[in-house]
Amino acid sequence: MKHLTGIANLTRDEILSLLDTSPDVAAVLDGGSVALVFHEPSTRTRFSFTQAAGRLYLHPVDLNPGSSSEQKGETTLDTCRNLAWAGARAIVLRTSKNRLPDDVAAVVDVPVVNAGDGTNEHPTQALGDALTLVRHFGGLQGLTVAIVGDVHNSRVARSNAHLLTKLGAKVNLVCEKCSPDVPHTFLTNTLEHGLAGADVVMILRWQDERDLARHGIKQAYRIDEPTLAKFAPGAMVMHPGPVNRDVEVTSDVVDGPRSLIAAQVRNGVLARTAVLRRLLDR
Ligand code: CP
Repeated sequence: MKHLTGIANLTRDEILSLLDTSPDVAAVLDGGSVALVFHEPSTRTRFSFTQAAGRLYLHPVDLNPGSSSEQKGETTLDTCRNLAWAGARAIVLRTSKNRLPDDVAAVVDVPVVNAGDGTNEHPTQALGDALTLVRHFGGLQGLTVAIVGDVHNSRVARSNAHLLTKLGAKVNLVCEKCSPDVPHTFLTNTLEHGLAGADVVMILRWQDERDLARHGIKQAYRIDEPTLAKFAPGAMVMHPGPVNRDVEVTSDVVDGPRSLIAAQVRNGVLARTAVLRRLLDR
């Protein structure tokens, strides 16, 4: 594997190799820099790649798009080629353009990691989420995961659906308008059917920056404790962040005993460390 641009194009064995985070802290690389190119806002992904680079004795360099030469008309492809020529050992890219990481990977000779591209994929989020599930439940085989809300616009939903189904989980996509582009998923627009039998409810932020959803739709899919008690009483809860409290989920759920959100963030660092190590330690 040379790049990580998505989960859809990975085999089951490649996914399993990326979930091997042992040893958790691995000083196996011998220095150099990793370029972080983020064209959309980020807290968790940017910081955890920064942490991951440090764990591997790599120097993370954050390219601020507002002050880079992209402001003078340079394309992202040329920007990334220049970063590689200047010595970056890997490029971590977040972008609003679907599949731009694949295009960059085709023109640079260093590994490219997709840190979220538009509505397409967010593979390292899915890897961190899978680690969280494995650590909590002991494995993924046979789990039922309901992914709820703005599935249509969610790269997190798409990467998780690919990963979880490839590793033996059942995935229910619960949404007003779902794109049925991930095989072997169950689509429904009702919480009643989508949450039935769920071991995990994965709640998504509404992506207002891509699609201004109607207020009524958001309310119809908002998850609160009474809804969970009614439809999925034993379920744990996940959310990739950022959380919009009282929009897609209420605080009693976010901060309650079902919540795996803190573990998702912690495991995101481990997953990104494993990805950088796997791509660079060749
Ligand atoms: N889950 C996620 O990608 O969060 P950030 O946008 O803060 O990186």
